[in-house]
Amino acid sequence: MMKNFLRLLDVSKDDIMDLLNLADQLKYEQKHNIPHKKLDGKTLGMIFRKESTRTRVSFETGMYQLGGHALFLSAKDLQLEKGELISDTARTLSRYLDGMMMRTNEHRELDLLAGYSRVPIINGMTDLCHPCQVLADLLTIREFKQQFEGLKICYVGDGRSVANSLIVGALKVGMKVAAACPEKYEPDITVLDFAESFKDNFLLTKDPLKAADGSDVIFTDIWYTSSADPDRELRRQIFRPYQVNDDLLAAANPGVTVQHCLPAHKGEEITEKVFEAHADEIFEETENRLHAQKAVMLRLMGD
Ligand code: CP
Repeated sequence: MMKNFLRLLDVSKDDIMDLLNLADQLKYEQKHNIPHKKLDGKTLGMIFRKESTRTRVSFETGMYQLGGHALFLSAKDLQLEKGELISDTARTLSRYLDGMMMRTNEHRELDLLAGYSRVPIINGMTDLCHPCQVLADLLTIREFKQQFEGLKICYVGDGRSVANSLIVGALKVGMKVAAACPEKYEPDITVLDFAESFKDNFLLTKDPLKAADGSDVIFTDIWYTSSADPDRELRRQIFRPYQVNDDLLAAANPGVTVQHCLPAHKGEEITEKVFEAHADEIFEETENRLHAQKAVMLRLMGD
C-alpha cells in the first residue's frame, strides 16, 4: 500500500501496474462522460518552487474531475520564501489538506515534506526524478504498443530527472532500456545501482546510435531547464550529438514511437520533422499526465 508517490524506486511493479490499470479506467470514464467524483470534498495543495504548464494544469484539472479542489501554492507566496522551515510548513499544511504535490529542485526537500506530513505527498518533479511523468509515459507506451514485455526503450540526452524515473519504471515493468548520455551527465548513482541487477536488460552508453539500435520507443528531454542557464551554450555543444533525428530513428525498429515529456526545444534535442511526425504519441503522452495523476491521487487520497 503506497503512502506517498516520491520515487519509482519505492513503488512495486504491482503498484505501478495497478496505477496504470486505474488510469486506463479513469481515462475511459472521462472520455465517456461517466461521473467519477471519487475525491468529493478532498483538497490537494500544489506547492511549486519552479514553473510548470503540464504538471500544474493536469493536477488541478484532475482534482476537479475527481470532485475535489486543488490549491495552487507558489512557494514565493508562502512563508517558505521568508524562511519558514519545510518541517513546519508540512505540519501546518497537512492540518488543512488531504494531500500535497510539490515541484522543487532538491529532492531532499520533498523527502523532508513527506517526513513531517500527516497527508500523502506526490512528487511533481525534483532534480532527482519525475515519477508522474513516467507513469504517463508507461501508459502511453502500453496504449501504442499493447505490451511492455520484449520491448526496448531508448533514452538519449541528459541523465537527470525524467531519465532516472524512466530507467527505473521501464525496467520494473519488464522492458529493456538503453540510455545514451554524455560523460558527467549520466543517471543518478541510485538508479545505476538499481539497473545493475537487470544485467542484459540495461545499457548505459555514450553512443546514441548504439542505444537506439533495435529500439521500439525513443525518449528525450530538454538540454537545459532555463533560458537563463549560464551553461546553455556549453550544454548545446555537449548534447548536439544526442539529438533525436532521422539518423537516430533509422537505427530503431520499424514502427518506432517517439515520446518527449515537453516542453520541447525543436532543432535542439529533437528535430521539428521528427517532433511533428510523432506529435500523436507526444501529445497523447501529455494528456496521459492527467489520467495517470488522477490514479495516483485516488490511490493515495481515496477512502
Ligand atoms: N513535463 C512536465 O513536467 O511539464 P511542465 O514542466 O510544464 O509541468
